[in-house]
Amino acid sequence: MAFLQLESVSQTYFSKHSAAVTLQDVSLTVNEGEFISFLGPSGCGKTTVLSIIAGLFPPTEGTVTLYNQPIYGPHPKVGYMLQQDYLFPWKTIQDNIFLGLKLRGMLNEERKSYTLSLLKEVGLHSVLNKYPGELSGGMRQRVAFVRTLSTNPKILLLDEPFSALDYQTKLKLENLVAGMLTDYQKTAILVTHDIGEAIAMSNRIVLFSKNPGRISRIFDVPESLTKLSPFEARQHPDYSGMFQNVWEEFERLEEQENT
Ligand SMILES: Nc1ncnc2c1ncn2[C@@H]1O[C@H](COP(=O)(O)OP(=O)(O)OP(=O)(O)O)[C@@H](O)[C@H]1O
Ligand SMILES: [Mg+2]
Repeated sequence: MAFLQLESVSQTYFSKHSAAVTLQDVSLTVNEGEFISFLGPSGCGKTTVLSIIAGLFPPTEGTVTLYNQPIYGPHPKVGYMLQQDYLFPWKTIQDNIFLGLKLRGMLNEERKSYTLSLLKEVGLHSVLNKYPGELSGGMRQRVAFVRTLSTNPKILLLDEPFSALDYQTKLKLENLVAGMLTDYQKTAILVTHDIGEAIAMSNRIVLFSKNPGRISRIFDVPESLTKLSPFEARQHPDYSGMFQNVWEEFERLEEQENT
């Protein structure tokens, strides 16, 4: 059975005087347990695709199904980590990580203790009573990640979770997140601008072109890299060849756009 399926998804944003076709005919099948990255120029519609999968709004055309059931609205099996961390500054870290459970009416002792164990796993048990403003960017992203995992989704949608972080923190978080997603057998879609990150973390890379947003190409990452941690994958001899391939295709797209 197909896990997540997008069939001919198109999105047009309407304003009072215009209609902008943002996505056109996007079809993709994601298998359970897969790690997919979305790569593409700014404005090509990556966040729009994630928001549609998360059920925040329906596509103008096409369908999205999870286990062959259409997604009509926010779905308990889909966890969405937004492009900004969206922690509430006036709430403690503890209250922030329980928020997703609370909103879904799932806040019970079992889920609470599971969520606290996740916080421990990301190394942040000691910040329970602090406020987001007292944490570093990398710590806040770890908290947001725990909140996303707290409701036990089957698939995580991660919109540029590492892009605002310094390089070293980003490498560490890539490893932590990839390790936990594998351990907990999650499926994931990561949006990133970083070709290296996409290669180091994914099984497949979906490259989007712009105006309108379409899937331009899908790259399979070789097993020699997928079986390694992101950090190790970046050191592997196959990494640079793969980087070159994706880079060239990305450049070609940009040239097309400018002509
Ligand atoms: N709610 C909205 N109403 C109207 N237009 C929108 C809306 N959301 C996004 N757009 C437009 O749709 C296009 C795609 O936006 P989207 O945020 O999906 O791109 P993106 O690939 O995630 O970009 P980035 O890499 O900069 O985050 C952009 O031109 C954007 O201005
Ligand atoms: Mg975006």
